[in-house]
Amino acid sequence: MKKAKRLDFLKSAVFAELDRIKNEVSAQGMEIINLGIGSPDRPPAPHVYHALQEAIENLGNYGYPSSRGTAELRETIAWWYKHRFDVNLDPDREVLVLMGSQDGLGHLPLCCLNPGDLALVPDPGYPVYSAGVILAGGSVYYVPLCRERGFLPDMEGIPEDIATRARMMIINYPNNPLAVVADKTFFAKVVEFATKYNILVCHDHAYSELAFDGFRSPSFLEVVGAREIGVEFHSVSKTYNMAGCRLGFVVGNEEAIEALERVKSNIDYGVFLPVQKAGIAALRGPQEIIEQNISAYSARRDLLIDGLAKIGWKVDKPQATMFIWASLPKDYASSEKFAAEVLRKTGVVMVPGTAFGKQGEGYVRIALVQDEKIIKKALKRLEEKFRFGGL
Ligand SMILES: Cc1ncc(COP(=O)(O)O)c(C=O)c1O
Repeated sequence: MKKAKRLDFLKSAVFAELDRIKNEVSAQGMEIINLGIGSPDRPPAPHVYHALQEAIENLGNYGYPSSRGTAELRETIAWWYKHRFDVNLDPDREVLVLMGSQDGLGHLPLCCLNPGDLALVPDPGYPVYSAGVILAGGSVYYVPLCRERGFLPDMEGIPEDIATRARMMIINYPNNPLAVVADKTFFAKVVEFATKYNILVCHDHAYSELAFDGFRSPSFLEVVGAREIGVEFHSVSKTYNMAGCRLGFVVGNEEAIEALERVKSNIDYGVFLPVQKAGIAALRGPQEIIEQNISAYSARRDLLIDGLAKIGWKVDKPQATMFIWASLPKDYASSEKFAAEVLRKTGVVMVPGTAFGKQGEGYVRIALVQDEKIIKKALKRLEEKFRFGGL
């Protein structure tokens, strides 16, 4: 087979190298402690998997579902939005069910980019953002996110000719991999910028419910004018620990929702009905799981941060998400070399920041996806092999 050129953009050399070293380390008999991939390790709430179980036993649930999602789930999403953000949504025109938020993030560029059109993508950023643009034949303009600006994009720094040519812009707060949050003042600036240049804003709000120390992440749609130029993606998979029976949704601008539904109806026929039933149970049912997730991940965060400080590695406390975005210890300059050295000496996997873009140099991402016992084991191994000069 002669492969299409676009495939070259879809392989990450950084992740491939990490996998190669991981295999080498396991082949030598060292147990791997994976603080790499951000897949929730905690189970869903019992009322969620019971709903799934019950729906699986209903033989009427095995036909093709509608590509928009069931009316019951779309109404539930609109209800959840009102209840959580005080935002009113029309479940028929402003809500679309997805096979995980990534499904929509990957396909939306097909709706608004013609070959060569520009998309403004954050760097560092979650890899599907640029992958979706490339698959649609668009071109990526990377907007740097720097620590000095709180990892928020500098919209005034985007050249006028780029802003004029841009058709879409992706933002993501709480952010993966940067673990920072944004407020409504920032969203209002995004609305102003996007309205001026007629750019579709895609806010990835996958970690809306995983913020620490009492912070409640606002919806982009709470800002006046946002719905006219933007959509917001949510991940039921992340919020309710359902990564294996993936479910997400997108809400907001009805033209964008209609376009995405049109693309998706040519590709898939929607989410398996029992998974939609489980999503309804998750969104409407008891919400204790959210608090439990927050306390589990924040306890892991504190344990890791304190443990790393003891060996001389001081890192910023994440405000949200299941990640720590750690600047390299003193005397280290390359993220990839540092992550490789840690993996070879301790079996602990951290992702080099460069896996998320050029601006990720100088950082590693550490996922809080193992329980405290395993985190303690990882810290012990790090302590045995490293003593950094940051104290
Ligand atoms: C920032 C961000 N957005 C979206 C997703 C996709 O989540 P899902 O497709 O399971 O809803 C992830 C998953 O890791 C993520 O980190």
